[in-house]
Amino acid sequence: MSPSLDLTDPAAFVRTDPHAFWREVRREHPVYWHEPSGGRPGFWVVSRYADVLACYDDWKRLSSARGTVLDVLLRGGDSAGGKMLAVTDRPRHRHLRNLMLQAFSPRRLGEVAAKVEARTARLVAAVTELGRFDFAAEVAEHIPMNTICDLLSIPEQDRKELLQWSKSALSSERPDSAELDSLEARNEIVLYLMDLAFERRARPGDDVISMIAGAEVEGRPLTPEEIALNCYSLLLGGDESSRMSGIAAVLAFARDPGEWRRLREGAVGLDTAVEEILRWATPGMHFARTALTDLTLGGQRVRAGDIVTLWNTSANNDETVFPGPRVLDLGRRPNKHLTFGHGPHFCVGAFLGRTELRALLESLVACVGTIELDGTPARIYSNFLYGHSSLPVRFLPRAQA
Ligand code: HEM
Repeated sequence: MSPSLDLTDPAAFVRTDPHAFWREVRREHPVYWHEPSGGRPGFWVVSRYADVLACYDDWKRLSSARGTVLDVLLRGGDSAGGKMLAVTDRPRHRHLRNLMLQAFSPRRLGEVAAKVEARTARLVAAVTELGRFDFAAEVAEHIPMNTICDLLSIPEQDRKELLQWSKSALSSERPDSAELDSLEARNEIVLYLMDLAFERRARPGDDVISMIAGAEVEGRPLTPEEIALNCYSLLLGGDESSRMSGIAAVLAFARDPGEWRRLREGAVGLDTAVEEILRWATPGMHFARTALTDLTLGGQRVRAGDIVTLWNTSANNDETVFPGPRVLDLGRRPNKHLTFGHGPHFCVGAFLGRTELRALLESLVACVGTIELDGTPARIYSNFLYGHSSLPVRFLPRAQA
């Protein structure tokens, strides 16, 4: 019998320990058919590292163009297919990606990274003085969104509203929120960015929106909708997942003082620690594809048109690749996790995501002595993203520890 946990339920992993569930799935049902539920179609669930990796590589038969998030696919597919980078297949994907990669030129990244480091150091120093605070609200919320907004040159006064929309676009802080809330939030963001696209096309500046608005892909400029959708993909891809990984880092240190001490005392390097936090947290639990032809996957017969979900959160804890996967080992090597995916759609923001996390660890090491939980962390509700919306903690300054 296939596992009975309903993976379409945003509260599934709030009620159930994901790691116990996936351990069992990898052992007993490494590729299984999730039965239809609530009037929505069924889908394939892929859990082992080797199978997930093979699916990411099999882009000729497993398409991203109908959507890459399970919820969206179950609702009939992504209307941005073929227009937005993440949901476009080759050959157009390659052209669009080359354009989007210009947003991450060394010069631009250098400027953005310097701002991230300064902003993070300032925020961490301020909360360390406070002593007791909610890390999600006081620190994590202010880093990724501002980073992407810096990249896109989004006016300061609009950022608060964008953050509110972004918070409901992919997940929710409440168990009872409606699908409509997330659709509305996504629409608001796209409409806002479309206005900016019109403005920047008329008066270009030295920013990423102007760059995308002024470029041609396959011999024609992008439409305002395509410009907005691709800027949106940076916001969507860059905000919540990075926010969740920063929060996960502090939660991990609070729960494992021994590993925190190793980092603080320099026994492990910042870069290896960043990779382990990314593996440990895996903020993007799954990505999805649609089969273009019949194919065999882990011995199962997948039919053309079937939805196939790739569970990074399970692959990153596959004991055949990561010994003792639920042991946080900040010195873990090798650590070829799939947190940023793999293959042609490998995360374009990986460098920025890593930079943000590195800046956070560096600032914590510089300022903080001990990290303790000061209440119960609150989980987000999503079957796509994993993480916390609130993390009450107590920091004791390094000088006093
Ligand atoms: C793609 C995860 C940060 C923008 C992806 C994919 C993953 C991922 C797994 C592959 C999706 C697929 O194969 O369908 C993450 C995580 C992050 C992060 C865990 C933070 C810890 C960022 C940042 C940005 C960003 C900071 C933007 C500045 C994107 C975009 C794509 C993508 C645009 C689509 C790439 C393509 O289809 O070619 N991300 N990401 N991500 N990510 Fe990220």
